[in-house]
Amino acid sequence: MASKRILVTGGAGYVGSILARNLLKAGYGVRVLDNFLYSQKSLEEIQGHERLELVNGNITDFNIVEKTLEGIESVVHLAAIVGDAACNMQADLAVRVNYSATMNLARQAKKRGINKLVFASTCSNYGQNEEVLTEDSPLNPVSLYAMTKVTSEKELLEMEDETFHPCILRLATLYGLSPRMRFDLVVNYFSMKASVEKEISVFGGGQWRPFLHVADAARAVQTCVEAPNEKLSKKVFNCGCDKENYTIKQLAELVAEKISGTKIDYVKEIKDQRTYRVDFTRVKKELGFEITKTVPQGIEEIKKEMEENKIKNPKDRVYYNYLP
Ligand SMILES: NC(=O)c1ccc[n+]([C@@H]2O[C@H](COP(=O)([O-])OP(=O)(O)OC[C@H]3O[C@@H](n4cnc5c(N)ncnc54)[C@H](O)[C@@H]3O)[C@@H](O)[C@H]2O)c1
Repeated sequence: MASKRILVTGGAGYVGSILARNLLKAGYGVRVLDNFLYSQKSLEEIQGHERLELVNGNITDFNIVEKTLEGIESVVHLAAIVGDAACNMQADLAVRVNYSATMNLARQAKKRGINKLVFASTCSNYGQNEEVLTEDSPLNPVSLYAMTKVTSEKELLEMEDETFHPCILRLATLYGLSPRMRFDLVVNYFSMKASVEKEISVFGGGQWRPFLHVADAARAVQTCVEAPNEKLSKKVFNCGCDKENYTIKQLAELVAEKISGTKIDYVKEIKDQRTYRVDFTRVKKELGFEITKTVPQGIEEIKKEMEENKIKNPKDRVYYNYLP
């Protein structure tokens, strides 16, 4: 019997390049649709795999999406302009990719009878809130990036019926090693900077953030792909772990503790006003999802990578969706 074929948009990205490997290992057919904004290198190792198809295309192109959906059983939608700064730099494109293309993909998938779409959303949607936030807490997007995700989430959920099941994963801020490495994420950035320059700058520092290892994020996505639709009836899941909420100051201190000789430079000015502390009861209770890695382990992982000189030039543009 032919294996189930999953479409992974953004499959060359930070999350996608791990997910694609995992799905292949689990026996699925994987079709990646990506326009390789940060190169195709992340998939080099698995290129040529008999169950992997690579489509170099833009998700904003109606015809490419139509063709790419042929023979697909479930869709994982990761492709996006990711992060506040990257979206601000190219606002029109961000709306076209993150919102319009998402809706087109979902409509076409539904029309074809594809019954599941897993959408990578973000805890950034909570924006600025002092409470501990559940999926039912009010959304308060304070950036264009979060607005594109909030609007997409809402419209995807309105499309749900007995034939089409959108599943929304509000991922915490990710960290850790991936074949498509990102150093513009705060845990990775602090760990890299501390390793190379022995100094990190903290702007404000009181802002709360939930964190999740990128490998755990890929596992969570696969859990949703494999969960029976009844299990996804709650539809929206915060994805992370209660114990992995930290303030930026706490994070900086952890980095300084793990990477000796690191000086923390505290700056009063707050560049990023977002602060959110998130509750992850639902994903654990309904889907049995638990993390396997913690932030201190992620810091160690990056430190080791830098010590072993595995990443020659961590300032290379390819590791950044924007330059911090
Ligand atoms: N990394 C995080 O901390 C984080 C947190 C919450 C949510 N998310 C969400 O998870 C998903 C994956 O994020 P990531 O960190 O892997 O990002 P990433 O930037 O590493 O990957 C995005 C991928 O999408 C591709 N892409 C972008 N525009 C495209 C287009 N027009 N057509 C086809 N492909 C396109 C890029 O080439 C890239 O490979 C995103 O939807 C993001 O919003 C990420």
